[in-house]
Amino acid sequence: MSTNINHDNLPDLQELEKLANQFFKTLPGDTISQPVTQQAPLDPASNFLQPERVTGSYGDPREVRLFEHTPQPASVAGGGISPSAINQNNAVNLKDPQTSFADPGLTSSQKQPSYTSGAGVSPSAIQSAKSEVGYPYIEDARTGPYSGGFGAEKLPFATEGLLHLPYQQEQPFEVELQKVLQAISVPIQSPQLPFSAPSSFDESSFYFLKERFQLPSVNQSAERKTGVSGLIAPPFDVNAVKRDFPILQEQVNGKPLIWLDNAATTQKPKQVIDRISYFYEHENSNIHRAAHELAARATDAYEGARKKVKDFLNAGSTNEIIFVRGATEAINLVAKSWGEQNLQAGDEIIVSHLEHHANIVPWQQLAAKKGLKIKVMPVDDDGQIILDEYTKLLGPRTKLVSFTQVSNALGTVTPAHQIVRLGHLAGAKVLVDGAQSVSHMPVDVQALDADWFVFSGHKVFGPTGIGVLYGKEDLLNETQPWQGGGNMIVDVTFEHTQYHNAPGRFEAGTGNIADAVGLGAAIDYVTRLGMGAIAQYEHYLLEYATGLIKGVPGLRLIGTAPDKASVLSFVLDGYKTEEVGSALNQEGIAVRSGHHCAQPILRRFGLESTVRPSLAFYNTCADIDTLVDTLYRLKNS
Ligand code: ALA
Repeated sequence: MSTNINHDNLPDLQELEKLANQFFKTLPGDTISQPVTQQAPLDPASNFLQPERVTGSYGDPREVRLFEHTPQPASVAGGGISPSAINQNNAVNLKDPQTSFADPGLTSSQKQPSYTSGAGVSPSAIQSAKSEVGYPYIEDARTGPYSGGFGAEKLPFATEGLLHLPYQQEQPFEVELQKVLQAISVPIQSPQLPFSAPSSFDESSFYFLKERFQLPSVNQSAERKTGVSGLIAPPFDVNAVKRDFPILQEQVNGKPLIWLDNAATTQKPKQVIDRISYFYEHENSNIHRAAHELAARATDAYEGARKKVKDFLNAGSTNEIIFVRGATEAINLVAKSWGEQNLQAGDEIIVSHLEHHANIVPWQQLAAKKGLKIKVMPVDDDGQIILDEYTKLLGPRTKLVSFTQVSNALGTVTPAHQIVRLGHLAGAKVLVDGAQSVSHMPVDVQALDADWFVFSGHKVFGPTGIGVLYGKEDLLNETQPWQGGGNMIVDVTFEHTQYHNAPGRFEAGTGNIADAVGLGAAIDYVTRLGMGAIAQYEHYLLEYATGLIKGVPGLRLIGTAPDKASVLSFVLDGYKTEEVGSALNQEGIAVRSGHHCAQPILRRFGLESTVRPSLAFYNTCADIDTLVDTLYRLKNS
């Protein structure tokens, strides 16, 4: 068989389409769905898929659909994987020459992997579960119905990072397609499929265009409109991303919802919603406690989510990841355990002027109880921490520095590495509040070197009611638990209790198991997009928005630090903040207006409240255009 490779180093799409369809025809009957079709023409000049215009309010080419996803077959995997492809750690080795993808010669039962020994599940149990519920068949919002690929190998629970659930077994369609094309002797070598992921992303994603990411092009139209130079085109197809979020299809007041309240909470992709449903439909049980199948599934899912959080933060160990209710509970945990146990009258705690109430009140409560002193790092008129002033506050009595990495009210990105380092030099422990940072930028807790780092799941596209306290392992184990109960003990008598080490010692009682699993799915989602790409896109969007919004007559931006993320707080002359919020709501635009649980920093700027649009990666320039249009109309009304 031969194929035409075009001279621009790309496969001919029609040829590819034909080959793909030939391949799909070779699949067993239950796996095929619709044929592959081209969705966008190739632009031979650019080697990109030609953007498809979507009319925005300015008719601007920023709102483009770079690539309409090719409908995916119901299953392109599902093929057998050899036992040797599952290595000793039960990780799938895709390089294993025995690994076969969609071998049409195998019957469906032969296509199951060899099951590794686990917490009491038999292959037949899985087979029967599969036949009853279609397991591991799931619907993926981007790829369509999708077979879990490697089947349902069951792994020991409480092990780290092992593949055992359909959600962990997703294999990128294009990788499989390439392998199959190779297997049927198609001489495609170096050219990438047009929808291949950039090599810098370990999971491929349909959203990326390699060339576009590596050679970002300046968006001249956006530059002209905003007067901001260096605005580059987004590194992924934001319209495709947006379609993953069902709620973003809602109408509010007859208008498409524009969600600009991301600092308060983020919306959830279908992948997260489905994962939580799947948990309750197939895995729900208490964890760590029983010798039955569902306990094993639930424990695997929960501990798997802990591993995802560990990787997401680049923590040294899963033992450093404690599931809590959210960032607020995490800070309270530290105050009421480590703080209670280690701080003495006269000791000093430094917080910044930017803090959310959650990073003020617990320390105030502790200070009142123990006679501690709270000192405040001041900020300049742009809303950035003044490092020199912070340095002056540090001294031998400083025992704790607790500050935010990104301000929820102003969007300031603080110089976190320097603040941590200076705090440590003074001999203090340091807590970083990551509630507003983890969804906007890559975070590496080892590089940051904070003693604790906290965040909330719901602000990173996961569920409410789940969050994380990261702590250095030794420090956690030196700290006595704050709550007692089940799960956190090794042994109990009426005279004495022996506690687990972290994380168990801080997870008394039944936790929020399903939502921890949902948080794991959210982390998978953003990891797949790439936190670097998200940061790049949001930077572009924030620059674009800032350039436009500051032109609105009578609008005063609050928070103008050069390094900002997501937030555009403002007040508008002649209007109360709630009036602006209400006018925006009439247009389907959701923003928060109020004090944002950060009264001290607003008062620093002489205000009791602001209007606060806050961005996420699913927002578009068209969203910003509608926001700015509405503000202009309000001013002119
Ligand atoms: N902390 C959240 C906010 O900033 C609720 O809106």
